[in-house]
Amino acid sequence: MSDLTTRPHPAPDAASEITERWWHRATGYQIYPRSFADSNGDGMGDIPGIIAKLPHLSDLGIGFVWLSPVYASPMVDNGYDISDYRNIAPEFGTLDDMDRLIAAARERGIGIVMDLVVNHSSSLHAWFCKARAARDCPEHDYYIWRDPGPEGGPPDDARAAFGGPAWTYVPEVGQYYFHYFSPAQPDLNWQNPALRAEIHDMMRWWLDRGIAGFRMDVISLIGKDVDARLYEEGPHLHPFLQEMHREVLAGRDVLTIGESWSVSTETGLLYCGRDRDELDMVFEFSHIREGWHPELGKFAPKPFDLVAFKRALFSWQDLTREDGWHALFLSNHDLPRQVSFYADDQQFRRAGAKMLATVLHLLKGTPFVYQGEEIGMTNARFDRIDQYRDLETLNHFEEQIALGVEPEVFITGANRNSRDHSRTPMQWSDAPNGGFTTGTPWIEVNPNFCDINVAQDLGDPDSIFTHYRRLIALRQQNDIVAFGHTRQLLAADAGVLAFERRLGGRRIVVFANFTPHPQRRDLPEDVTGRGEALVHSHARRDEVPGQLDLAPFESFACQI
Ligand code: NOJ
Repeated sequence: MSDLTTRPHPAPDAASEITERWWHRATGYQIYPRSFADSNGDGMGDIPGIIAKLPHLSDLGIGFVWLSPVYASPMVDNGYDISDYRNIAPEFGTLDDMDRLIAAARERGIGIVMDLVVNHSSSLHAWFCKARAARDCPEHDYYIWRDPGPEGGPPDDARAAFGGPAWTYVPEVGQYYFHYFSPAQPDLNWQNPALRAEIHDMMRWWLDRGIAGFRMDVISLIGKDVDARLYEEGPHLHPFLQEMHREVLAGRDVLTIGESWSVSTETGLLYCGRDRDELDMVFEFSHIREGWHPELGKFAPKPFDLVAFKRALFSWQDLTREDGWHALFLSNHDLPRQVSFYADDQQFRRAGAKMLATVLHLLKGTPFVYQGEEIGMTNARFDRIDQYRDLETLNHFEEQIALGVEPEVFITGANRNSRDHSRTPMQWSDAPNGGFTTGTPWIEVNPNFCDINVAQDLGDPDSIFTHYRRLIALRQQNDIVAFGHTRQLLAADAGVLAFERRLGGRRIVVFANFTPHPQRRDLPEDVTGRGEALVHSHARRDEVPGQLDLAPFESFACQI
């Protein structure tokens, strides 16, 4: 956003300068439109609902919204299957509504970052409708087709991420098309220059409407080579991203965040390193995968291992110390509610929610808040598979039941990790359906909405919302929070996460108890000291003492 734009800023070692961009001090807020606010009683959130709730986002102090897809879509994957990139799904509103949202948000200093879903389209996109009807039309090559294998079956045995084979046969053309996700999400053939030009043009069209950037869905898949069975970070990825930068992004002060499930500390700076001219930052998932079973995946619960989690988190702090930038998050629309997953959503919910926020918002990078996180919303705990809506959970249920897994066992895993937990409606008040809709919500509202809702939280002097607001303001005001170097403390500690941020001669020390038990630690001298409390979940702390006692899930930061 050009009004918040660049100015030189001293780097932590004061020896060099980095160019400050508007998003260096901003906090993002992800809206999953279907579940945020319903203005017309059809049980589904919409764009006018979002406009009505902009004051909530202003109160929180956020700088930009990452808006999950609102484009025209058959909604097989709730909008991550787009049938028209230049139109809005009628259930969410119209293009006029979208323009009103962009303008109304901008008036409040909030940018709208659109979701760019271009690894695949919907199978109902006009391109695919033509592509599947004839081999000799230009659009046929916009998708990835292969002839049947020697036995007449699929070209290989690749499996799709949402279950089933990754190849689907189309008799009209006598070929199989590739879909990394569901058959309703055919992968686009990025090796076709005309397809790339279409995408660039569409991106410019949105940027010209005044959006503040793009979050790029599974962008690390676009360089794939299906014949070599190289899907993630394939050979064409970085040339394609550089071309996109040249054709679309260069000269525009916008934010780009790429989603990558495969990026590692070895490849991270290829996307977002200084002088790379690709993206500004990536969403990477190493800290999230720590919570998954190594063989059985996300639907098999695995006990949380703080030491491994810290290793993942701080390896990215180390990577982006001198170059690149990091996107900080614990939650999104694909993940469980963070307070349920990493802390405690019962007795210590408030302390746990604040503790996770303290940690994330005081690291170096751009933090993202997922809707409802700012009031400590929790997982839903469904008992039956028919309460779930997500195709991933439903498909994996079918597959695993066929393999002999007991339904209750699967539901236990799904209750920890299904994507639907983050998709239950936003809880605004204790009115019916949490104030989300006057109709019947598309997915059940979490029954705890009477106790956990925005109105209730705002009325509490010690609220989770207030804690978030303080943290978000700190990033805007405090140079150490925005730019300081990070050093992990107590790396081997299985109960406490601690780190220090340093800028010039000043430092901030952050402590977080990840357990429901009191913790006592003897600290080395170079960590302790007197200073000023910046943020705290329990008593104010103006000192880090040699012997530190932390209450269950307590967190604080002190500037020394
Ligand atoms: C990642 C998105 O975050 C997820 O919701 C979606 O299902 C897949 N990409 C496919 O678009």
